[in-house]
Amino acid sequence: MLSLPNPKILSLRHQELSMKSASTVLLGLALLGTAGLAHAAGNCTVTLKGDDAMKFDLKTATVSAACPTVTIELVHAGKLPVTVMGHNVVISKTSDMAGIASAAVKAGAANQYVPKGDARVIAHSGLVGGGEKTKLTVPGKKLTAGGDYTFFCSFPGHSTMMKGKLVVTP
Ligand code: CO
Repeated sequence: MLSLPNPKILSLRHQELSMKSASTVLLGLALLGTAGLAHAAGNCTVTLKGDDAMKFDLKTATVSAACPTVTIELVHAGKLPVTVMGHNVVISKTSDMAGIASAAVKAGAANQYVPKGDARVIAHSGLVGGGEKTKLTVPGKKLTAGGDYTFFCSFPGHSTMMKGKLVVTP
């Protein structure tokens, strides 16, 4: 035998559900509102995490060329020291990444593994160890919407794993 639920309970549940849906709709509208505002300038700030396993948590980061300043904040969520598991974030054209990574090894620790005065480097952050954070900033106008860009860590050997696509929207 099927036991039918008490209709009173059913109707209460239904009421509860309707209230939940209503607040979901309101929340959705509030989010839409925020997204609407953000859309005017596009996304200007990205938070990226690096860890002790030589990985970034993002494969893609999206920013807008319309941003006065684009910021990529890098959080090293690991524990290893900068000398062993240093992370930074560098942005360049995808075709320039390998060349910059080689030049970074030559630049060495003294230059935080970023080749000095290298025009291929569009922007870079500092180099940090576990528990630290750093960031890079770049004027949005230095990026071209639809361009082929990559963000990566230039610590020796890291760019093969620690890289992702930087998508630039108008
Ligand atoms: Co790294």
